[in-house]
Amino acid sequence: MRLLFNSLAGILFLIDHGASGAGSDVFSVSPKIGDSVVFYTGVETKQQENIKWYFNKTRIAEINRDQSFICTDIQCNSGPERFRDRLKLDNQTGSLTILNTKTTDSGEYLLQAIRSSSSNDKIFNVDIRHVHATKLDEVQTNEGQCVILDSGEIRNNDHVMTWFFKDGVIARITGGPSETCTDVRCEDGDERFRDRVMLDHQSGSLIIKDTRNTDSGDYKLQIVIRNSSFVITRVKRFSVSITAVQDLGPSSGAVADISFAVLLVVAALTAGVIESS
Ligand SMILES: *[C@@H]1O[C@H](CO)[C@@H](O)[C@H](O)[C@H]1NC(C)=O
Repeated sequence: MRLLFNSLAGILFLIDHGASGAGSDVFSVSPKIGDSVVFYTGVETKQQENIKWYFNKTRIAEINRDQSFICTDIQCNSGPERFRDRLKLDNQTGSLTILNTKTTDSGEYLLQAIRSSSSNDKIFNVDIRHVHATKLDEVQTNEGQCVILDSGEIRNNDHVMTWFFKDGVIARITGGPSETCTDVRCEDGDERFRDRVMLDHQSGSLIIKDTRNTDSGDYKLQIVIRNSSFVITRVKRFSVSITAVQDLGPSSGAVADISFAVLLVVAALTAGVIESS
């Protein structure tokens, strides 16, 4: 109880001090390990500004007004190489992307966008949750059964979730429960799942009914969590194997053994014939 109270006090302290921080906009961003995050500057293409990004007060990206100077990561500072090729700076808008986030990316990201006289600051307080978004889930069942691919998420209406099978779209939810499509009703929808897929609106989990052997393969769930100033993108993968019912008789291994035995007998007979002649 005391611990809870202390953490609450700590959070309130942070909110208070973050919000009053020199009149800049403050955002809290909580991705999972492996997510990609884009921080928007709000700068329009061709609008000329000097843009600098700092991580925990170290400059990690910069682009100047006429794009004659651009740097990211250790090109901008003398510190240790932190992001390597996981950091991207959009040279039109100055927006910053961190790919494949790690827990060590947690901290304060400060944007300074300087126009002729005014300066527009934004602070993104990033707390990478110690949860791996991207581990592969393996699911197995027999033909005709139902399969549930669990998103592991609790949705709200700013989550856009899209399910793919071999790069074809099989289901998508873009907002409330009515903004859902499945199989051929989705743009680029996959015909093979016609009337066999459903989405759970609370979680975005996918349900495939009456599975077929041909449903086996790799499924991908893409989750895009959008805010006016940042976007988190998460990808989850599922490996599904559906066993065909006719394969459930004697295993193909046993069949091979029988043929091998027949072959041996034939070989022995042949040898006998040759010997006796
Ligand atoms: C950045 O700052 C945060 C908050 O003070 C701290 O928890 C984190 O360890 C720092 N990260 C690095 C890499 O310095």
